Amino acid sequence: MTDGERQRMLDAARSALANSHSPYSGFRVGAAVLTSSGKVFGGCNVENASFPVSLCAERGAIATAVAAGEKQLDAVLIVTDSTTPCPPCGMCRQALAEFGEEMAVVLVAVDGRLQEHSLRDLLPESFGPDFLGGNGGRS
Ligand code: THU
Repeated sequence: MTDGERQRMLDAARSALANSHSPYSGFRVGAAVLTSSGKVFGGCNVENASFPVSLCAERGAIATAVAAGEKQLDAVLIVTDSTTPCPPCGMCRQALAEFGEEMAVVLVAVDGRLQEHSLRDLLPESFGPDFLGGNGGRS
């Protein structure tokens, strides 16, 4: 990803974070995904009084990209108010892998400090559509 793309992701993730609905944990998360066509889609965590119903920011961003017809994701950026760059949870790693096993994962701490990983390193030996045969259920 280019510096300009990273900056657009950061802007989208920070603006989504500002809208985080996290009254239960108080932990705001913003995410943005970069599609292979160069578009950026943001998402924030959306908690629920029935706690397991809550949605992570990454999966919100993925859903918005897919709804716009984008299924190839090259990068995801995650920002929180934490002083340590915060990695995606296991469920989100699996959700991200569906749309790009080679995806770059950029983590941003509150002071702007960046860490970059590859999704393959964060989710090795992953289960994916290839195991399901055919087109892996992609439609
Ligand atoms: N959260 C995310 O949005 N993404 C993650 O990858 C980890 C956790 C949210 C879920 C919940 O709203 C809050 O952070 C505390 O777990």
